[in-house]
Amino acid sequence: MKSKNIVWHKAQITKRDRRRLNGHKSAILWFTGFSGAGKSSLSVAVEKELHKRGIRTYVLDGDNVRHGLNNNLGFSPEDRTENIRRIGEVSKLFVDAGVMTLTAFISPYREDRNMVREMVDDGEFLEIYVKCSLEECEKRDPKGLYKKARNGEIKGFTGIDAPYEAPADPELVVETDKETLRESVAAVLNFLQEKGYIQ
Ligand code: PPS
Repeated sequence: MKSKNIVWHKAQITKRDRRRLNGHKSAILWFTGFSGAGKSSLSVAVEKELHKRGIRTYVLDGDNVRHGLNNNLGFSPEDRTENIRRIGEVSKLFVDAGVMTLTAFISPYREDRNMVREMVDDGEFLEIYVKCSLEECEKRDPKGLYKKARNGEIKGFTGIDAPYEAPADPELVVETDKETLRESVAAVLNFLQEKGYIQ
């Protein structure tokens, strides 16, 4: 709960100033999808391309953030919501700092993703649905977690015994079970270019 007696302190340097100094826009590229869909690989590969173009970037990744900032959170619906809320707030700070921010979280609940969309200004939240059939994700099973979930060793695993609510109206969909990583990266970069986020 928000405490009382706190007053927002305004900075003298604004987001606009920081963006001007950086020479580019800042926004959140919010990658969402099943475990194993390719969110991390895609965000890292897109970051590399943006970096090459002189754009300041940062990737926030599920597994990494859960080692630090969110190491007190599990996978209950409440904890997942809190996970996404904190990531949303951190991403907002990065956007304010003028950084192109890429996030790779399952973020299974539509309402939670919309909460982040609401946190930032219009056009600063770009939802990218990393679409991949559950069957394919389970086949890939890079961490052996689907196997554990099927064996009952992990409870509440997304897609197995916990829900995933696909985006209703995402800014972009990439289908990682139909395209190569290179094609998905190109799709994201084309989108950013077409919409004027990068040149
Ligand atoms: S969430 O739902 O957005 O809060 O999840 P996220 O922070 O992205 O963390 C997902 C990674 O945690 C591992 N893991 C699980 N995923 C889903 N359900 C359960 N129960 C679970 N337990 C552990 C899994 O490796 C996810 O990694 P990714 O990168 O998505 O494959």
